[in-house]
Amino acid sequence: MANRQPLIAGNWKLNGTRKSVVELASAISDGAAGLPVEVLVCPVSVHLADVLAVVGNSPVHLGSQNCSEAESGAFTGEVSANMLQEFGCEYVILGHSERRALFHETSEQVAVKCLAVQKAGMTPVLCVGETLEEREAEQVESVIAAQLDAVLAAGGIEIFRQMVVAYEPVWAIGTGKTASPEEAQAVHALIRQKISSLDADIGSKLRILYGGSVKADNAASLFGQADIDGGLIGGAALDATSFLAICEAAASTVEKSAS
Ligand code: PGA
Repeated sequence: MANRQPLIAGNWKLNGTRKSVVELASAISDGAAGLPVEVLVCPVSVHLADVLAVVGNSPVHLGSQNCSEAESGAFTGEVSANMLQEFGCEYVILGHSERRALFHETSEQVAVKCLAVQKAGMTPVLCVGETLEEREAEQVESVIAAQLDAVLAAGGIEIFRQMVVAYEPVWAIGTGKTASPEEAQAVHALIRQKISSLDADIGSKLRILYGGSVKADNAASLFGQADIDGGLIGGAALDATSFLAICEAAASTVEKSAS
């Protein structure tokens, strides 16, 4: 894991009530105190203020699951990067496969969103990943390269200085099927090589998370891989006990590499 601090991010998706997210956030901030990992929770926008009230004075960070490309104006239903920043967000998940598939977001739009998020002083968590069909057609490398290239075309390599990348094979999201640690590592290494070939310093510092059916029982073997710097967690992030067990799995890799 080199000198990169692991990041464990909870993507709560379209779940929860004001009461349940406050309970979940409190249990996570209590349990994560003192762990040598960065912990991030991403509720829906209307829950941000309630969650901020809980995590605001804890080391747990707050993020959003999406944001608008626009700063303001006639864009009914959108939420801008500056608005999210004002609600305490430090990260914004962008280009999640659900947004790409269900809301038809293109890599070019995702790239513009990355710029908007950085302009507002936050860090994008850029999701990339292939479908099962693309994997079977041996297109993993070209699909991921194209997703990264769109962002590079919009912002150049410097945009990756304040960025987290999440590799999420679409076939592993919410399916209970995880990429094996070796399969995931192979793609993480490709991503790092691509960024490092443009700027070695940015490449070596870039945190690359794995996402897709990460659970307490498979987390340690994934996080033990050289280029896996944490996880983007969906289903298991909705239960404080499982999410904290995943945070602890990441912490144990830090402790191991320090000893
Ligand atoms: P999952 O979701 O952990 O439920 O597979 C991950 C994600 O969609 O980010």
